[in-house]
Amino acid sequence: MSKGSGKPRETWGSKIGLILAMAGNAVGLGNFLRFPYIAAQNGGGAFMIPYFISLFLLGIPLMLTEWALGRLGGRYHRGTAPAVLYAIVRHPIMKYLGILGILLPFIVVIYYTYIESWCFSLSFYSLMGKFQEIGAMASGTSDPGAYLKPFEGFINAFLGRTSPGFILHPSAAAYIGFLIVMVINLYILYKGITEGIEKFAKFAMPLLFIMAIILVIRVLTLKNPVDPNLTAIDGLKFLWEPKIQGLTNPKVWIAAAGQVFFTLSVGMGSILTYASYLKPKDDIALSSIATASLNEFGEVVLGGSIAIPAAVVFFGIAGTMEIASEAFKLGFVSMPAIFSNMPLGRIFGFLWFFLLFFAGITSSIALTTPIITFLQDEFKWSRGKAVAVIGVIWFLLSHFAIFFRDIVDHLDFWAGTVGIVFFGLILVLTFGWGLGKLERIYKEINEGGYITLPIWFAGIIRYITPVILIVILIWFVWSDISQAFSLLSQGAGLVEAFKASKILDFFSLPALISKMIIIGLFVFLGVMVGKMREFEETPLSES
Ligand code: TRP
Ligand code: TRP
Repeated sequence: MSKGSGKPRETWGSKIGLILAMAGNAVGLGNFLRFPYIAAQNGGGAFMIPYFISLFLLGIPLMLTEWALGRLGGRYHRGTAPAVLYAIVRHPIMKYLGILGILLPFIVVIYYTYIESWCFSLSFYSLMGKFQEIGAMASGTSDPGAYLKPFEGFINAFLGRTSPGFILHPSAAAYIGFLIVMVINLYILYKGITEGIEKFAKFAMPLLFIMAIILVIRVLTLKNPVDPNLTAIDGLKFLWEPKIQGLTNPKVWIAAAGQVFFTLSVGMGSILTYASYLKPKDDIALSSIATASLNEFGEVVLGGSIAIPAAVVFFGIAGTMEIASEAFKLGFVSMPAIFSNMPLGRIFGFLWFFLLFFAGITSSIALTTPIITFLQDEFKWSRGKAVAVIGVIWFLLSHFAIFFRDIVDHLDFWAGTVGIVFFGLILVLTFGWGLGKLERIYKEINEGGYITLPIWFAGIIRYITPVILIVILIWFVWSDISQAFSLLSQGAGLVEAFKASKILDFFSLPALISKMIIIGLFVFLGVMVGKMREFEETPLSES
């Protein structure tokens, strides 16, 4: 029993609920929006080999690491990285490094919830036949550009390089949709781990998979109205015909590793927090791999068989590559274009956006859970109080993403790209080395396991994963900074050159504001971590 709040710390209600909640955490917008466009940008088949290698050497080891760390923390009734890392290595610095396990997911949720709310609103747009109206005006599917304007009008953002200025003007529909989605998120979080998150996942995840399967079947039976030789199979070939050239391009490797991290939700501390609600002897060996497998099914099988094949049928390979050059075009512009010109398009369009909404919301509640759990575990706040306070901060900070251009890109770069690799490294190093001998890690990952993972699995966590992560990090920093230096050597001014680097840019407004948000939150969490409650020397016994 934990003292203070008077209630024991929650644990997941059932095995199936746990797996669905974890799958809900991982399966998100990343699977259906980010994966298709990143894969297309990086040459389809050329991308998939680095992707699968990253999955086995980085993604799955990190997934297992976070499950193990989380379960270990749960034995102390602690579920966030500051305490969990400190439980293993008793040095104060670990608490401060652990801040990232709260900060990174919270930074992502600031922009993620807003994107998720577009999906919610657009699903109703589709039902109301709005896309059909636009389709009629555009007379035919050949012009995805006709759909760009309405989407730009909806958010006035991100794609709309044409509408000038730093300040964005979202439509009333976009803002109201955001308010509704905020309220639903907060309600689920308020209900708690089993009654909120687990219950919602048990209902949403099966539905999500059904919606996705219906869409896959529809997409795979599509034919180009003008050129019957162009079918969805060409899209699948584009994605699945392995091409060797990607293997020598570091950019493709980085994109693949980044996507694996993002889609599995690893390297942020959120899986760790979910796993802290396990019982001390619950299986992690099979469950973590099951979570990763469900996510990959949702990514390469379902996510890969919707947006890309659909776009290839109507716009060809070259057209698809062109559409995928901008983050949101594939999902928010080309999909409505396609649905608006097919029988029952309103319904399929609704399914597409509602699927995205469900995928998004089971992830946004996971992104917010670490900071809420932190306040509960370390300060004995009630769930209601934690959700209320965090809800207000979350709501207010989201306005940066809603009203200012390019904030999403910058926050995503720091938290969703660099941050996860850095923090992933901290996590594998702590787990792979902090406990001592290799045998100890082997024992920890197999404790209570339904299956026994071989010892070389522990070896990958200890040796291989960290080395690859260090190489990726160095590459990130170098490639970012070198852009500034190459401009300097071409005679550009200091300010102008630094603006070309995300790390060195303190001059453009979006970069500056994003950095201030991140640093501000870091300092705030730093103060909180300094005030965490006393730490037990040994795990608490079960009661
Ligand atoms: N995996 C999520 C997706 O595919 C995004 C994500 C990244 C995430 N890190 C996370 C979700 C941490 C929850 C927690 O969209
Ligand atoms: N620029 C971000 C990225 O490339 C934004 C983004 C695109 C995104 N698709 C997304 C963020 C899906 C979250 C989910 O990743």
